[in-house]
Amino acid sequence: MKIIRTRAEWQNAASQLSGKTVGLVPTMGALHDGHLSLVKRSLAENDFTVVSIFLNPTQFNNAADLQTYPVGFDADCALLEKIGTDYLFAPTYAEMYPDAYRYHVIETELSKEMCGAKRPGHFEGVLTVVLKLLNIFQPTHAYFGEKDYQQYLLIKGMAEAFFLKTEIVPCPLIREASGLAMSSRNRRLSAEGLAKAPLFYQTLSSGKAPEEIQSELEANGFVVDYIEERDDRLFGAVFLEDVRLIDNVER
Ligand code: PAF
Repeated sequence: MKIIRTRAEWQNAASQLSGKTVGLVPTMGALHDGHLSLVKRSLAENDFTVVSIFLNPTQFNNAADLQTYPVGFDADCALLEKIGTDYLFAPTYAEMYPDAYRYHVIETELSKEMCGAKRPGHFEGVLTVVLKLLNIFQPTHAYFGEKDYQQYLLIKGMAEAFFLKTEIVPCPLIREASGLAMSSRNRRLSAEGLAKAPLFYQTLSSGKAPEEIQSELEANGFVVDYIEERDDRLFGAVFLEDVRLIDNVER
């Protein structure tokens, strides 16, 4: 696996890849089997796969959340190398934001709801960094997990709105055997938190009304950020031990 730090290095590498398909898997690192499922799909569907690891500060509206976000670059590299990733892009902030975030992408509807309402500016940071990555790599396909379903819908909408050539590919949410959605943030839970966290998915998928689900989660010690039904899907975000967990299920 070749590690690339700059846009110029990629330009150099890309000059050898003309006529080949490229898959991009954007991540913020602290990789788990959910991320690896996206990378494996990209490896199967493209001639070359690029994974990006960039802990994007513009999508964090809360400094403490950014500071405590799990990192593990060496372990991530080992996992990516093992499954045959071709390129890892690991840029600095200055490389990604030469404009110091003066320019950004604003979506005016869905990005203001659910996670967007609770984390002002979050989706602006996500859409902006993803647009930059799509422009740098101009991949044939880019892969996003359905755990972040709202994020996937917004990225797909952005690609359509700006006539991007990349196909945005949604990939199934991967769960632990307990049902807990895999997330880098799960690493911040204590053993007790990890034992309780699967109740979030179990309650969300119970088929009950959103208000009832909220009450049950609160009775079990979760702090509910929102539980909301939208387009035949139930979305939820909760805090457990100050760790924010999100999930969604089809209804
Ligand atoms: O889903 C994530 O990990 C991030 O939001 C993404 C898409 C890599 C953008 O920073």
